Amino acid sequence: MSLEEKLNHLESMRAEARLGGGQARIDAQHKKGKLTARERIELLVDPNSFEEFDMFVTHRSTDFGLEKQKLLGDGVVTGCGKIKGRLVFIFSQDFTVLGGSLSEAHAEKVCKIMDIAMNVGAPIIGLNDSGGARIQEGVVSLGGYADIFLRNTLASGVVPQISAVLGPCAGGAVYSPAITDFILMTKGTSYMFVTGPNVVKTVTHEMVSSEELGGAMVHANKSGVAHFACENEADAITKIKRLMDYIPQNNCEDPPFVECSDPLDREDETLNHIVPDNPNQPYDIKDVINAVVDTGSFFEVHAEFAQNIVVGFAHLGGRSIGVIANQPAIMAGVLDINSSAKGGRFIRFCDAFNIPLLTFEDVPGFMPGTEQEHGGIIKNGAKLLYAYCEATVPKMTVITRKAYGGAYDVMNSKHVRGDMNYAWPTAEVAVMGPKGAVEIIFKKDIAAAKDAEAEIQRMTDEYREKFANPFIAAGRGYVDDIIEPKTTRPRLIRAFEMLETKKDTNPHKKHGNIPL
Ligand code: HXC
Repeated sequence: MSLEEKLNHLESMRAEARLGGGQARIDAQHKKGKLTARERIELLVDPNSFEEFDMFVTHRSTDFGLEKQKLLGDGVVTGCGKIKGRLVFIFSQDFTVLGGSLSEAHAEKVCKIMDIAMNVGAPIIGLNDSGGARIQEGVVSLGGYADIFLRNTLASGVVPQISAVLGPCAGGAVYSPAITDFILMTKGTSYMFVTGPNVVKTVTHEMVSSEELGGAMVHANKSGVAHFACENEADAITKIKRLMDYIPQNNCEDPPFVECSDPLDREDETLNHIVPDNPNQPYDIKDVINAVVDTGSFFEVHAEFAQNIVVGFAHLGGRSIGVIANQPAIMAGVLDINSSAKGGRFIRFCDAFNIPLLTFEDVPGFMPGTEQEHGGIIKNGAKLLYAYCEATVPKMTVITRKAYGGAYDVMNSKHVRGDMNYAWPTAEVAVMGPKGAVEIIFKKDIAAAKDAEAEIQRMTDEYREKFANPFIAAGRGYVDDIIEPKTTRPRLIRAFEMLETKKDTNPHKKHGNIPL
């Protein structure tokens, strides 16, 4: 064979691999509103930047007629590419080849790119669309999953890992995305569950559809498994790219610095009027965040889940930061099980990847009630506390209004290594809310009073005057300064700049034992 003939043969093999499971199955994939594995990669990476590995890999199984179904690539497209010029490693499961099911060879391909990503220090992006373990291969495919889970775990905190679930992701297969940092799901075309509707029906007699059991919205707002519920695949891919704008290549690098056209000294008058005079009236903390960070840069994560806390990335003076904010507009911003877990996990991602933290605090305390206590608010609240305590990145807090009780300690107080803690003049820093405090400490006086209600009101006003302000905390140095709200942006930018070279460490240990 001449070289030309050999090259033609190579090209025909490549063309065969590109066809995956064949045109009919590609058409079926499109009909479901889904893209193919390769189309997804093309949307994700910079033009012509994708280098594919292992295009000619096939499975080695001869059971159940599989020897007659050898397709090049074996159900997954792997390789590396660039997103806005930055290297990433990608695996994209091909549902057109045996339902994207994971064989021994498929797993080896995924593991190969994960190993290289770790060696060179680049993010791993998984595009999941698979019927799970290749049933015909049995335990060999289970072993393949475990090989991936191990790598997901070892890569955790070393390189960012992003999972898009764009089709089925069932059984043990869910645990690979679950270990990664961010999960995106598409509405209507993706689902994740450990056991599907049929098994659920057999075991618990519940009738439930795939969408109701493990669709994007269920995982975005009920279970919290998904960080993003996306309108469609294009939306999911846009969000992955946006995520990349805020995160570094690995744990030894800083996140990318972006050009900032928003003036660094911009003051915002609206912030002076955003906190209502009535302490029980809500306002939207996202208005505060958006007014402070670089215009249009706030990118909310986990937006549908535990909305009483808001988390997300932003740029501040071009610097990437992670924002954690109590949301007074939802359940008064109270900390409960879900919001604590949500906040804690986000903080740990930021700390692992050198992303400074900015906390906006307006929290009446932890949520009371048997449901919360029995559900483990103690251990879940502890997750948030632990995450703040262990974080060594620059950490700043702005107390906009309430900083009550244990929640004062938890929300990046000075005592847990907050670097710069500011309070607005509207801040109320106290052990508990004025009314609750008065009813406890003046119980006898109230009982003896002729007009108990009036007495409570009088004492509440007195207590508020004395304690529900930031001056006592500032007098102790527990807040570093009381700032005029409109100056928040320039003050924070200056403080983050000052903290740029901050170095802090934790005691040497194998690993901590965060209350899981
Ligand atoms: C081998 C599979 C497969 C699998 C699908 N296919 N799943 N082949 N192993 N796990 C094949 C089908 O035979 C079919 O082949 C093609 O993929 C498309 O599948 P369809 O069923 O036609 O597609 P659809 O109707 O869209 O249904 C998709 C599906 C369904 C819901 C994913 O295929 C399904 O339920 N598959 C099995 C899911 C499962 O139980 N997996 C094992 C989970 S346990 P043809 O040739 O007809 O096109 C697990 C353990 C992991 O994963 C352990 C880790 C700890």
